[in-house]
Amino acid sequence: MPHPKVLINFALTVDGKVSTAGFTPTTFTSAYDKKRLLEIRSLADAVMVGRGTVEKDRMTMGMPDAKLRKARQERGQAEYPLRVILSGSGKLDLNLPVFGQKFSPILLFTGKSAANEVSWPDHVRVYRSERDWQDLGEVLSFLYAQYGVRTLICEGGPTLVRALAERDRIDEIYATIAPKLFGGEHAPGLLGTSDAFLSASRAYRMVNFEIHGDEAYLHYRRDR
Ligand SMILES: NC(=O)c1ccc[n+]([C@@H]2O[C@H](COP(=O)([O-])OP(=O)(O)OC[C@H]3O[C@@H](n4cnc5c(N)ncnc54)[C@H](OP(=O)(O)O)[C@@H]3O)[C@@H](O)[C@H]2O)c1
Repeated sequence: MPHPKVLINFALTVDGKVSTAGFTPTTFTSAYDKKRLLEIRSLADAVMVGRGTVEKDRMTMGMPDAKLRKARQERGQAEYPLRVILSGSGKLDLNLPVFGQKFSPILLFTGKSAANEVSWPDHVRVYRSERDWQDLGEVLSFLYAQYGVRTLICEGGPTLVRALAERDRIDEIYATIAPKLFGGEHAPGLLGTSDAFLSASRAYRMVNFEIHGDEAYLHYRRDR
């Protein structure tokens, strides 16, 4: 089944952590990194996150820079990317900032244990499956076929990225290495907190490396 190219973009400490223990929200990169995150997001037709990220980071998944929006339209893309949220439980607070913004549809992929009686806003389209844990291969193919998504950026969190890595669906990795150490046996890394190895290692080629201030910006492409 055809599916979109999947990019991920993450900030990591030098010891490979993406969050503090307890998944508390943490902003540990520069303003330059935040600007770059939006530039990378602007390349995609859809931006995807899991419940943990949309809750902890309180993001709107938007495109606040008018220049980036204009460039998207000139490339034939929608002004704002589609917003895709994965939550098997469907236990999302309707007061989260993401639901207060209507600039693009929100596609919520949820499962059988999600409550039926939630009054989702009109711009939220709910896709409920018979199981809570969504098959990302199916979700990606659906987005390709039904919404014309050709490039998708996943901005976290580690649980969702691990699921993508298990399906070997990560085509490109953008990583910002911040000059910090967090430590913590239970603080998540890029693929979360699971101690299980992937079924096979995934190899990438480095396509770019930049230094800005004290941060390093890495860009890798899957070596298939
Ligand atoms: N450093 C960075 O660049 C970066 C980026 C993003 C996030 N973070 C941090 O990561 C932390 C959040 O971590 P997290 O692992 O909880 O985030 P997450 O992956 O965004 O959220 C996990 C939740 O997403 C849902 N989910 C993920 N994959 C799913 C699938 N295949 N099918 C159904 N539901 C799925 C589940 O929700 P339900 O429980 O509702 O089923 C799961 O519990 C936060 O502290 C955040 O700040 C850091």
